[in-house]
Amino acid sequence: MIIGVDYYPEHWNEEMWVSDAELMAKTGVKLVRVGEFAWCRLEPSDGCFDFSWLDRAIGVFAERGIKVILGTPTNCPPRWLCEEHPEVLPWGSDGKPNPIGIRGHRCYNSPVFLEYARRIVSKLAEHYKDNEAVSAWQIDNELEANICYCEACSAKHREWLRRKYGTIETLNKAYGNVVWSGEYSSWEQIDPPYGGYNRAWLNPAYMLDFSRRAAEDVTEFCNMQAELIRGYIPNAQITTNTWFCESMPDFYHTFEKLDFVSYDNYPTVSIPHDTENIYTHAVHLDIMRGIKRKNFCIMEQLSGTPGCWAPMSKTPRPGMIKGYALQAFAHGADTVVFFRWRTAATGAEMHWHGIIDHSNVPGRRFEEFAELCREAESLADIRGAELRSEVAVLYSTESEYAFKLQPQTDGMYYMEQIKLLHSAFAVYGVNVDIIGQHEELTGYKVVCAPQMYITDESVARRLYDFAEKGGTVILTNRSGAKDGNNNCVGEQLPAIYARLAGCRVEEYDPIGWDTVKVKFADGEEFTAKQWCDILQTDTAEVVAYYDGNFYKGKPAVTLNRFGSGKAYYIGTVGEKRLYRKIALDILENMGIDHIEGLPDNVEVTRREGGGHSARFVFNNTDVPQSFVIDGERLDMQPFEMKIQTVCAPL
Ligand code: GLA
Repeated sequence: MIIGVDYYPEHWNEEMWVSDAELMAKTGVKLVRVGEFAWCRLEPSDGCFDFSWLDRAIGVFAERGIKVILGTPTNCPPRWLCEEHPEVLPWGSDGKPNPIGIRGHRCYNSPVFLEYARRIVSKLAEHYKDNEAVSAWQIDNELEANICYCEACSAKHREWLRRKYGTIETLNKAYGNVVWSGEYSSWEQIDPPYGGYNRAWLNPAYMLDFSRRAAEDVTEFCNMQAELIRGYIPNAQITTNTWFCESMPDFYHTFEKLDFVSYDNYPTVSIPHDTENIYTHAVHLDIMRGIKRKNFCIMEQLSGTPGCWAPMSKTPRPGMIKGYALQAFAHGADTVVFFRWRTAATGAEMHWHGIIDHSNVPGRRFEEFAELCREAESLADIRGAELRSEVAVLYSTESEYAFKLQPQTDGMYYMEQIKLLHSAFAVYGVNVDIIGQHEELTGYKVVCAPQMYITDESVARRLYDFAEKGGTVILTNRSGAKDGNNNCVGEQLPAIYARLAGCRVEEYDPIGWDTVKVKFADGEEFTAKQWCDILQTDTAEVVAYYDGNFYKGKPAVTLNRFGSGKAYYIGTVGEKRLYRKIALDILENMGIDHIEGLPDNVEVTRREGGGHSARFVFNNTDVPQSFVIDGERLDMQPFEMKIQTVCAPL
């Protein structure tokens, strides 16, 4: 594993670069990320470029054997550019340009911005094409779907719709614009969804297309930059650092033409005491690995007290600096870069702490970081080894968008069932992949397909096929509910999935925060919440019934034999135990290796490859844990990771 740090040479005087680089080298830091916000220093005025300071900084690191990931600075156009060309600024939903003063102040569709962005990226690529210290490139920073309301975006959106629908009549029909007399008679009438009122009043079909286009902008912007860089450096390793934000890009499209995925990983410092809370970042890490179905990089890793836009929160507890980085490694990250080396002394982010505090006196967190660097070196053999999984969870960007656009009932979020199903299998120490819904399913034995809300026929076909050939599928509530335009389908749910599930939804009851009991055939009882599909079976057998409300005795969970495989349908949202019970049944029936009796939040994964195999056991809790795996007793401190390696696959 390679350990790096995010570093901002432009924030510190040059003498500090040397002492910082020396300490980094001595500690075992192998990589720094630089440059992603430094446009004003790289191009201090229009067309005048100054890379000399960056050359010196990169030189200081290179002399000490530290490689560099170079960020393109397009996140922060310099003030002169915004003043000369205010059209580079994004516009808010009030139809006005956003003020300068915070970062991310650029619209990816502004022709003027794109021209300047192309120029600075090309200049950087040309300048650093032969610099061997530059080992990879990061495009921009934490790109979000381009929710901008400027003229360029509106024009692009209309053009996008024209290409998709051809005629305004087709679009009117697809959106059902007759409702509330919303039919357009010309493309020019189509505006972006301006603010000032509740979004839920807007047409969901129109809103889903807006989200799709806003996400496509990110992909285009990344591909544009990647192509420019490759024009100078054909073998460049290119990424962009992504995260989970409100306006999510489409991970699968964004990274399709990039070389590797990188993720900004800030696991929680305050461990919740509500046992139903699935706080582990394992689920995020598995989503990241699943984007390209290969190992990935952490570009920013929790280093100190978070705070700045929100008040400061707790400092990482002993064990977290090391443990959370090793947890990322356990899930397929080969490189972990910490945000940041030293805490900023100026600027809005001065309270988001790095490995070293403002004082520049290395302290407790630094010592733990140094220990991690030493341990990372000893793990060189397993770098590149992969996680092989027999269980997959499908993720749909479009369903995620659609749930955000129309929250279905209090407390029900798309990600929650992804987490519930992921953790139901992970709790038995099996590797779980989370992959895009369009991926091939060959090689898996179990595929969880939660809330397949926006219907895609090719995805449904693949799931039918998978079950037909012997796989086990788990479907859940709200599946098959919408067509590709985010309109309700005119069939009994789960509509396109009804034959696979072998059941139909007679009626549903969105109970929100209310709860109801669900009873399995063996008498075991669970609490369910949020949503109740009242089921009627066709070919399926009943696994569990509701034990309350007017549908007491009606099926809540069913199991259908389909071809040589099976499909579960879970019509409600249960407590964690409910999913675990089903998962255990499946693991036993499918003969998948698993471990029973792991304490809650003790995580076990396995990486294999290159003649090496390693089992990672992580105590992701703030209390000591003692337990037995394969006859061996393990006593583990809070956030401790134990890595058991062998030379041949286990
Ligand atoms: C994000 C950004 C960083 C920094 C950190 C911590 O992940 O990419 O530049 O702002 O948050 O605040």
